[in-house]
Amino acid sequence: MDLKSRIDRRDVTAAIIGLGYVGLPLAVELAKAGVKVIGFDVHAGKVAEISAGRSYIPDVSAEDVANTVRSGHLRATTSPADLADVDVIDICVPTPLRKTKDPDLSFVIQAVDTAASVLRKGQLIILESTTYPGTTVEIVGPALEAKGLKAGADFYLAFSPERVDPGNPTYQTKNIPKVVGGIDEESTKLAAAFYRQVVDTVVPVSSTEVAEMVKLLENTFRAVNIGLVNELALMCHRMNIDVWEVIDAAKTKPFGFMPFYPGPGLGGHCIPIDPFYLSWKARQNGFEARFIELAGHVNSAMPEYVVTRVAEALNTHRKAINGSRVHVLGVAYKRDVNDLRESPALDIIELLERRGAEVTYSDPYVPEFSHAHLNFTSIGPEQVTADCAVIVTDHRVFDYPAIVKRFPLVVDTRNALKGMTDARIVRL
Ligand SMILES: NC(=O)c1ccc[n+]([C@@H]2O[C@H](COP(=O)([O-])OP(=O)(O)OC[C@H]3O[C@@H](n4cnc5c(N)ncnc54)[C@H](O)[C@@H]3O)[C@@H](O)[C@H]2O)c1
Repeated sequence: MDLKSRIDRRDVTAAIIGLGYVGLPLAVELAKAGVKVIGFDVHAGKVAEISAGRSYIPDVSAEDVANTVRSGHLRATTSPADLADVDVIDICVPTPLRKTKDPDLSFVIQAVDTAASVLRKGQLIILESTTYPGTTVEIVGPALEAKGLKAGADFYLAFSPERVDPGNPTYQTKNIPKVVGGIDEESTKLAAAFYRQVVDTVVPVSSTEVAEMVKLLENTFRAVNIGLVNELALMCHRMNIDVWEVIDAAKTKPFGFMPFYPGPGLGGHCIPIDPFYLSWKARQNGFEARFIELAGHVNSAMPEYVVTRVAEALNTHRKAINGSRVHVLGVAYKRDVNDLRESPALDIIELLERRGAEVTYSDPYVPEFSHAHLNFTSIGPEQVTADCAVIVTDHRVFDYPAIVKRFPLVVDTRNALKGMTDARIVRL
């Protein structure tokens, strides 16, 4: 039976390489739909957790992991040899930046090597990691072909960007439309059929490059608009205008406007990073991506700006940052998640410490962390005495009225205290 018919009957075994925020939800959805899934990760601890029926990703329930492992639909491994018989290989590994802001494809290259080690005729290989246009054809295809098989003729190859939004209760793997672009029509058709098993809407496009560019457009759109609104926040502060009120009123326009909000800076694995994959590739083509660079400049200056606002706030109480106790509320990069990657809270804490503040923090999702050679342990706001609190992440579980009562100053970078009036509140 051909691969398409077997996919449609869910009579295939799929390997998911990389079981993180992207890979694990997909693996579990596929397993729940009846596809046999082998999750491969180099992190033995994650593989052990899954094998024991536990989840380390908040959006994935332990019950789903335990049930799919028990039914034999999901299995996790660190051994590439276990992938010998799979029909589909889906790569979901990290794509960070190097210190120089150049793409770091080392994880993708390593994962493709794993795929190449078990590559055989008739397989479908899909890359999901966010990357610059051209990666699938220029890097992944040739690395697989080094085995002697030919992409298109012997195996199928596609790119499908992941759009998962961790912590979003409305949109998850099943109801986020999935864009798919193959190196040829057959590859697109097969990859689309594969995702249709678990995703309500699949959007085929004409090439891998288009699919790669779609993801970078989406995230660049966010980075640029956040940059614009961050600059507007700085401008409004100078002009003594409440930027939050401006945005709330502007968004009553039923067309041609979409609200973005200022904040303490970009965080997470995507928005601070992905646009630089695009600007790097544009530079290879002799093109300067000016909006991306400018937005990066504005957004990366926000932690410093927050610290300036803390200093201004303390100054109104005749205090200096040096020697003051500052309590940071929320260190995860966004609301209701436990993800610290690229979180602006880390920069803010480091900058405060460097200026001599005694920093403590509360984050029910992040009980402890280390940064810049310092170790921190979360402590509830009700147990802290500080000169100033800074709301960096607006987790829903925080008791905001109690926070305003507790601290002499509260710098609110997220408008978490919307509607509250108190002389102690300082809004971004
Ligand atoms: N997290 C998000 O919200 C999100 C959203 C959309 C797209 N993406 C993109 O998806 C990709 C994966 O992101 P993530 O957030 O899931 O990352 P993650 O760090 O949560 O997970 C990646 C996993 O890959 C594993 N890994 C690394 N190298 C490996 C290898 N050679 N073989 C097997 N496993 C390996 C890691 O151990 C880790 O478990 C990135 O390109 C990211 O930009 C992420």
